Amino acid sequence: MFPENRARRLRKNDKIRNLVAETVLRPDDMILPVFFDENIDSPRNTDSMPGVKTWALKDYKNIAENVTSNGVNSVLVFGVPKKKDAVGSQAYAEDGVAQTAIRGIKNASNLTVIADLCMCEYTDHGHCGIIKNGKVDNDSTLEYYSKIAVSQADAGADMVAPSGMMDGQVAAIRQALDENGHKDVSIMGYSAKYKSAYYGPFRDLAQSCPGKGDRSGYQMDIRNRREGIREMAEDINEGADIIMVKPAGPYLDIIRDAADTFDMPLCAYQVSGEYAMIEAAAQNGWIDRDRVMTESLTGIKRAGADMIITYYAEKVAKMLEEQ
Ligand code: PBG
Ligand code: ZN
Repeated sequence: MFPENRARRLRKNDKIRNLVAETVLRPDDMILPVFFDENIDSPRNTDSMPGVKTWALKDYKNIAENVTSNGVNSVLVFGVPKKKDAVGSQAYAEDGVAQTAIRGIKNASNLTVIADLCMCEYTDHGHCGIIKNGKVDNDSTLEYYSKIAVSQADAGADMVAPSGMMDGQVAAIRQALDENGHKDVSIMGYSAKYKSAYYGPFRDLAQSCPGKGDRSGYQMDIRNRREGIREMAEDINEGADIIMVKPAGPYLDIIRDAADTFDMPLCAYQVSGEYAMIEAAAQNGWIDRDRVMTESLTGIKRAGADMIITYYAEKVAKMLEEQ
């Protein structure tokens, strides 16, 4: 108790503060989402995501080199196809946009390539699965996810990350990968993925907005905490190698629950809306971008995440390497 106890002793200078720092950000923790669009020849900007480019397929080599030289070791690949149809057939095409990008990046670099595995960028209706009788049908969607997983692994993906929130998706994908010679390809489950309004800007980037309806029939209700635990436990039982909470900033309680409950590598996704809000305020001069970036990422790690998918991956990795 005061006056013997004085917390300020350990805040005396940088070196002492660093000595007792409980949370560290490392470039190795950061995963950068990268977007490739088959319809473009030169990079496209998205107003709601300042500083985030969508790349033409031929840019894969530049991307791989830039990302690596900025100190990032892992990317999460998304594709926007030329042709969309009811069953998202470009999502599992051998020469699909994601497969081509994955193959290119793996050939050009040592980056760890994680393939986002979903159908919403590839279906003409914009939903994450197959529509039957006006609803997204769980079990027939699993067959498509299996095909997508195998095609992404064939292209060289180190991990696949199913983000569609179908029940049984991890089990179906694990089985398909194992049966097709991909026992060593990991699964990063988007395990507790909430139906969040923070995904808004992503849908501009990936052009994946559902035409009719929304995703409340498959993504999680934002009001539910225990259900997040059930979803993560289920993914672990089904064979996920890494579990994820998404979004990150508004869901730090779920991240902490996961860290306390499971002995598993835990990922958190700082989503597009989280990034866009920081950028918007920073552009107005209302906050200090770099400091808020660092604080938001530190909060996510402090809550218990081991790794973070973030649009700031390059910026923060570079900053950390320069320190
Ligand atoms: C696709 C997918 C989404 C995100 C990642 N994968 C959008 C969605 O579910 O609607 C969101 C990422 C972000 O907002 O940064 N299933
Ligand atoms: Zn989707």
